[in-house]
Amino acid sequence: MSHPHLQFFIDTANLSEIQEAFDLGILDGVTTNPSLMAREKVVGKEAVLNHYITICNMVDGDISAEVLSTDFDGIIEEGKELAALHPNIVVKVPMIKDGIKAIKWFTNNGIKTNCTLVFSAGQAILAAKAGATYVSPFIGRIDDSGWDGIDLIRQISHIYTVQGMQTKILAASIRTGNHIIACAEAGAHVCTSPLSSILALLKHPLTDIGLAKFVEDAKKMSN
Ligand code: E4P
Repeated sequence: MSHPHLQFFIDTANLSEIQEAFDLGILDGVTTNPSLMAREKVVGKEAVLNHYITICNMVDGDISAEVLSTDFDGIIEEGKELAALHPNIVVKVPMIKDGIKAIKWFTNNGIKTNCTLVFSAGQAILAAKAGATYVSPFIGRIDDSGWDGIDLIRQISHIYTVQGMQTKILAASIRTGNHIIACAEAGAHVCTSPLSSILALLKHPLTDIGLAKFVEDAKKMSN
């Protein structure tokens, strides 16, 4: 594998959550999507572009910004505009026919891409063939529909390794800390998750009990 270890991206457009994750010192990047931007009430092209620039100035890592167009020409036009905002912008493109054509175009023109809305190994193969920098399988939504999102991460990881494909697996739609652990085991290169899932990794009841005891005993050490 070409990556040194699992990368942590935060999956939000909320600036205070991004700041909190950044302050932990373990944040490698950010992913957004139109739903996350709308949740923060970022409305209008200028506000959207400015929001991406603000995020790029907060976090020194790859920042995914999703196109809204679904046709080749529109995706290219939007993607060029997004990529020109900052060198760390990754253009997020949906897994559709025109999206694959656009990813190939961006690859040929030195623009990083994240192929989103991926739910099958076949889609992940196509994204890698087009040269996507990242592929985003949606773990939580797969689980919601009665399939196993982690199985898909494992399958894509196996295919990419056997075939020597360079696209990074960016596990998305993560809902829990356990998802992050399972994605790490299954071979994801990156997990993008809400702040709550990252913070969930901190928690263990025995840590809390043990710390309470140490704090209590520490009082006996001072006079
Ligand atoms: C990130 O790249 C995805 O857009 C996001 O993880 C989707 O998450 P959701 O399924 O919780 O909406």
